[in-house]
Amino acid sequence: MKVVIFGLGYVGCTAAACIAKSGHHVVGIDPSPEKVEAIAAGRSPISEPGVDEMLSDALSEGRLEASRLVDSHLNEADVAIVCVGTPSGPDGAHNMSYIAQVSRQIAEAVKPDRAKPLTVAFRSTMRPGSIDQIIAPIFRASLKDAAADVVELVYNPEFLREATAVEDYFNPPKIVIGTQSGKPSEAMDQLHEGIDAPVFHVGIREAEFTKFVDNTWHAVKVAFANEVGRVCQQLDISARQVHEIFVSDTKLNISAYYTRPGGAFGGSCLPKDVRALQHIASDTGANTHLIDSLIRSNEAHKHHQFTKVTRDLSAGARVLLVGLAFKADTDDLRESPAVDLARKLLDSGYKVSVYDPALRPEKLVGQNLGYAYAHLPSIDTLLVDKATAESETYDLIISTNRLVKTLSLGDAKVVDVSAIP
Ligand SMILES: NC(=O)c1ccc[n+]([C@@H]2O[C@H](COP(=O)([O-])OP(=O)(O)OC[C@H]3O[C@@H](n4cnc5c(N)ncnc54)[C@H](O)[C@@H]3O)[C@@H](O)[C@H]2O)c1
Repeated sequence: MKVVIFGLGYVGCTAAACIAKSGHHVVGIDPSPEKVEAIAAGRSPISEPGVDEMLSDALSEGRLEASRLVDSHLNEADVAIVCVGTPSGPDGAHNMSYIAQVSRQIAEAVKPDRAKPLTVAFRSTMRPGSIDQIIAPIFRASLKDAAADVVELVYNPEFLREATAVEDYFNPPKIVIGTQSGKPSEAMDQLHEGIDAPVFHVGIREAEFTKFVDNTWHAVKVAFANEVGRVCQQLDISARQVHEIFVSDTKLNISAYYTRPGGAFGGSCLPKDVRALQHIASDTGANTHLIDSLIRSNEAHKHHQFTKVTRDLSAGARVLLVGLAFKADTDDLRESPAVDLARKLLDSGYKVSVYDPALRPEKLVGQNLGYAYAHLPSIDTLLVDKATAESETYDLIISTNRLVKTLSLGDAKVVDVSAIP
């Protein structure tokens, strides 16, 4: 294939070297004369292990060119890859001026009578919606109705890390290809041929958002590790040993567990122990801003779920809440997010019934009893049995756990809060 790469910075140079190494013909475009001169001479303008050698090989094998201008380079091209910078603006948003500029250049240079569309793959990190709201309109303004037949817009995030960029290019953790239809792109699949990694063919916005989620998660991990490390230091605990124990748990700690958007956290342990760690951290001066934000974030999520489930409910509507305890088949109400939800529903004037067969208010004891009556004083009057739950008519049934599967509810409207992100 002939691949034209726009932007010869860290991402673009590595892509140029690796794509040429895979046997494709590469043209690099960048307004910087120094970068173009370097690439055209088979040298890397950036320091990145392996890139220099690959560029030099590609040049001697006749598979590498560079230019400051687009000229006619797109005429025979199969794919254009955009790797221009998206630096932070003063308000934190990405500065999209280079993206807009390069999109305009491509739209003006691409011939409207092409035999097959040019695949334009964006690798720069940019806000979800950028292709739909900024880039596609630029192509439509220039190519009019022909735009969809002349260019295929793709978002293909890059997961390389500087210093190991070449290794990461050929062994990425995943390949994400976002297209407007959500279907595979033939040209992009061909470009990634021979690279062994899970491939996700998704919509453009999901692909655009991937990098934000990944990078923010990595930042959360680093900040969390450092906060734990600071607390360890203050308490004279070996942070190294704590880390060793932590990462050895690939069941609950370093795993997909607890990462799916859905229910808030709750129960007798998590909120209590997070609050206690917050206290220890503040007591010892460890300043754990991330850990300190967890309870507030969880409360915000509970409120979000409440507003989501009640959005279309009319005043005084009848609501059945299926599952009140923290987990199905238990009667542990302590810090159960469903208790908060029931209280919010009652406070807002809805007529609430609760189905949870494991709960017997007269059998609640100790802290569980105190929690139940402090947070839901009318608990005795809210509970209904299976026959009532199945026979009564409700405006909305809210499911908080798998208990709902034990009820025959016909075609009643059921909202599952564990599925509300
Ligand atoms: N650096 C990384 O490790 C990394 C990893 C993944 C994703 N990204 C993302 O990739 C994008 C590029 O990152 P980078 O570090 O390579 O940036 P960079 O600043 O090193 O390079 C950007 C290049 O784009 C060029 N450019 C600007 N306008 C142009 C135009 N109209 N035509 C052609 N070239 C133009 C600039 O001259 C510059 O050489 C960013 O959005 C970044 O967030 C970076």
